[in-house]
Parts: sequence; C-alpha cells; structure tokens
Amino acid sequence: MLVLGIETSCDDTAVAIYDSVNGLLAHKVYSQIDVHKLYGGVVPELAARDHLQKLMPLLLDLFKETKINKNQLNGIAYTAGPGLIGALMVGASIGRTLGWAFGIPAIGVHHMEGHLLAPMLEACPPAFPFIALLVSGGHTQLVSVEDIGKYILLGESLDDAAGEAFDKTAKLLGLGYPGGPAIANLAEKGDNKRYNFPRPMVDRPGLDFSFSGLKTFALNTWLNSNQTEKTKADTAAAFQTAVIDILVIKCRRALQQTGLKRLVIAGGVSANQLLRQQLAIMANQLNIEVYFPRVAFCTDNAAMIAYAGCQRLLRGQQDELVIKATARWSLTAL
Ligand code: KG4
Ligand code: ZN
Repeated sequence: MLVLGIETSCDDTAVAIYDSVNGLLAHKVYSQIDVHKLYGGVVPELAARDHLQKLMPLLLDLFKETKINKNQLNGIAYTAGPGLIGALMVGASIGRTLGWAFGIPAIGVHHMEGHLLAPMLEACPPAFPFIALLVSGGHTQLVSVEDIGKYILLGESLDDAAGEAFDKTAKLLGLGYPGGPAIANLAEKGDNKRYNFPRPMVDRPGLDFSFSGLKTFALNTWLNSNQTEKTKADTAAAFQTAVIDILVIKCRRALQQTGLKRLVIAGGVSANQLLRQQLAIMANQLNIEVYFPRVAFCTDNAAMIAYAGCQRLLRGQQDELVIKATARWSLTAL
C-alpha cells in the first residue's frame, strides 16, 4: 500500500510517501523557522499562510522526485490534530480533497500518534508493548503502548511541555528560536554544576511532570548573576540537566511500575543528545531496550504521519468525506 503523508500542524510543512512493503520512499520538510524567529516563537497566522504557499510546490517536488503518480497511491494520511487550527486546516483541506479527487481513502492522523510511531521507520523497530515518552513543544507524556491505537496515559506535564520549557527559557536568556537546539548548543560550553536547579515533582509518587518553574528559576538565576556569556552557558547547562534528570527519573519509574522492558522516546526534544545519552545509561542499568527515531524524525515530519495513516488504513479504517482538523485532541481518545 502506498500512502501519501501530509503534516502542517505547526511550523513545518512536510510531505512523504510510505510503502507498506518497501518502507519510506521519500520525505520532504520545509521549515518555517526563518518566518517565526523574528518573533521569538511561532505566529499561528503566519504559519497557516506559509503552509498555504509551500504545501503544493512541496507535493509537486515529491511526486517529481519519486516519479510516483497519483494513480499509484492507495491512500492519504494528513495530520488532523492536535496543533494550530489554521495550520492544520491547510494540510487537512488539501489531504482530504486530494483523496476525494484521486478516488482513494483519506485518514486524519493524530500528530502525537505519528511521533509515537516514528521509531517504527528505523531498521530495528520496537516490538509492542512498550513505554513511550513523548516530548515535544506541545506535549510531555508517558504512555503505555499495547498496540497501534491502544494507548494508556500514565502521566503528563501539568503545565509547560518540556520543549516549551526549552523554548521559553531560551527566549528569557536571549537565545534564538527554537530554544531546544539553542540551549543544547550553549550548554555544551557550560558547567552544569554551577547552579542547582530544582527537579519539580520527582520526590512525589506518580508520573506527572511540571516544568514551568524551571524557566522562572533560570530567569532569576540569570538576573541575579554577573550576566557574562560564561554565566549564560552555565545557566543553560544547569537548566538542561534538570529537565533531562526529571525525564529520566520518570521514565525509570514508569518502566519499574509497569515491568515493561522497552522504552521509546519521540518528539522534538528526543533529538537532544544528552537526553539520549542519559537514557541509554539508564537502559543499560535496568537491562531494557531504548528506541529513538533518527534525528530528522524526532521533530515534525510527514514520514511518521504516512506511516501511522498506513497502519490504520491497513486495518480497514478510513474517514468519511469530511475535513478533520482539531486543535485539541487527546491521544487516549483514539
Ligand atoms: O515535535 P516538534 O518538532 O513539534 C511539536 O510537535 O511540538 O518539537 C519541537 C520542540 C521545540 O520545543 C524544540 O525546542 C524542541 O522540540 N527541540 C529540542 C531539541 N530539538 C528540538 N529540545 C531539546 N533539545 C533539542 N536538541
Ligand atoms: Zn510534533
């Protein structure tokens, strides 16, 4: 089955073609970072307008490059939510309409299900069941995954998502957008032991997270310091270490509580090299397996959407002739 994937939930316009027999055939991402970095964060209206301009040319490039024509496609998967509603509506309208015009099924995919299944695109994919840590700009969730569509939410952030905490802290420190890579790069030059950031909610039982206090702690640390470049790097390093410690502690707890032996990390923050290292150390200690998507598929992409949509289409699911776009949509509602 050949499935075209379309992703426009936030600030990346992405398209891909996934083949259920031969795997991923091609994928393309156009990043809007240059549009939004002037504002220090994503401007929803500009995101939607840019998707409108970029999606069709990107699709034409994909068809040209793969030499696949519309008659070979068996289905279309587009991101239906959660995300920025205007941005979602671009991909949803085009995806659903192309499905109707080509006479093939179209399916609205949950963006976080896409992230969660992204490691399935790798050479050694995880087997079910597993624990997934989803860490993106909008979500921080620990999910017990029994099978495709069988998700139990074990815990989530009660305030900022981990990626959001990176982005907001970077903004407060005057670093660029997106904040994750900016903090990670600066942290390499810093001493993560100079400041002792709190680890909210780790001394309480449970698997929920709280990250909003860390950005305030970072701001106060910075404002009360000598404000040199060295101090900024030390603040970034201490902040990053605190976020990663919290994520690792909660993953360890989720694995121990459930007895599951596989851990999947996905979403933009899973590109973070220190997080990957620390989780690999933990996996070794607990004698479990840990799986990450390749870095390009940690952040938003359409390969994961084509894959998730393909799995659902193969199971006989498809949507009616409606354009689905939902800004808020719980993974557990699937
Ligand atoms: O999954 P994603 O591309 O979009 C959402 O679905 O939100 O995640 C974007 C988030 C941003 O908050 C970004 O700062 C963060 O992922 N991010 C990182 C890194 N690369 C991206 N956070 C920490 N370290 C990184 N290397
Ligand atoms: Zn995402």
